[in-house]
Amino acid sequence: MNAKEINQDTLLAGETDPLSDTPVHLLSLEGVGKHYGNIVALTDVTMAVDNGRVTCVLGDNGAGKSTLIKIIAGLHQHTEGTLTIMGQDRTFTSPREALDAGIATVYQDLAVVPLMPVWRNFFLGSELTSGFGPFKSMDVQKMKDITKHELAEMGIDLRDVEQPIGQLSGGERQCVAIARAVYFGAKVLILDEPTAALGVKQSGVVLRYILQARDRGLGVIFITHNPHHAFPVGDRFLLLKRGKSIGYYDKKDITIDELTAQMAGGAELAELAHELEQMGGHEDTLHDVEGELRTTSRH
Ligand SMILES: Nc1ncnc2c1ncn2[C@@H]1O[C@H](COP(=O)(O)OP(=O)(O)OP(=O)(O)O)[C@@H](O)[C@H]1O
Ligand SMILES: [Mg+2]
Repeated sequence: MNAKEINQDTLLAGETDPLSDTPVHLLSLEGVGKHYGNIVALTDVTMAVDNGRVTCVLGDNGAGKSTLIKIIAGLHQHTEGTLTIMGQDRTFTSPREALDAGIATVYQDLAVVPLMPVWRNFFLGSELTSGFGPFKSMDVQKMKDITKHELAEMGIDLRDVEQPIGQLSGGERQCVAIARAVYFGAKVLILDEPTAALGVKQSGVVLRYILQARDRGLGVIFITHNPHHAFPVGDRFLLLKRGKSIGYYDKKDITIDELTAQMAGGAELAELAHELEQMGGHEDTLHDVEGELRTTSRH
């Protein structure tokens, strides 16, 4: 029996095909494309997300990364190809449908209420209540306890869950969002550029929680333009450029240098240097520009 033949409807995050002990596709895309009127935003994208694995989606600005996750998260519908969730061909018509299918998305501009305590944000929209009818009230203590416990489980040590979430650093906020998705039973976790606005140290913290989520059996889709963030945590890499897939690799089939070269577009860098030179740039300054481009992509 192969992974495709087992009943994926009942598959929970963290499970593997019992016979082969291999991870199972929670989600897969086959030849997926999307056009907005005349504009083709995405063509022929094929990728898979397995439980306990991290699939990275890399690409420059306008490459189609957000379009891709919007399709998976139910904000937009694909116009070509198939999206398979737990073995079923699906087209989500709302984010709610995607969420109900176990797909949680953490957007870069996290929808948090800055002045509200961490625990309130953790339970926002899914508050716990106790009692019935007119006696129904929020179970504050329980929500605080669960928040504290869940954050600790992910290795996040907050001084106080009563703290307004706005006081946390960007990295910590991302981590709270990840812990929340895990707690509410996500099977697939989509992270849209979670490290884009973060420094090296904070990025490291977020990358660690990506691995925590993976180890808890989630299939993670990690979107980034930084190969140095993607490579250490990723199991698979999908490279997008101007809406097209320019490569889809297993980690064993690619090195960090190859990934960086594909991303940076070695030829394009040389072309840029040439163009700047024509415009009167100094040659040694141009070498600095090239060097800088390389180092910035390293953070
Ligand atoms: N709602 C829309 N209507 C028309 N065109 C769109 C729409 N959304 C995206 N596009 C186009 O689709 C292409 C891919 O955009 P997308 O936002 O997916 O890129 P991205 O990889 O997320 O870029 P970035 O790194 O800048 O966030 C772009 O050319 C964009 O202009
Ligand atoms: Mg985007």
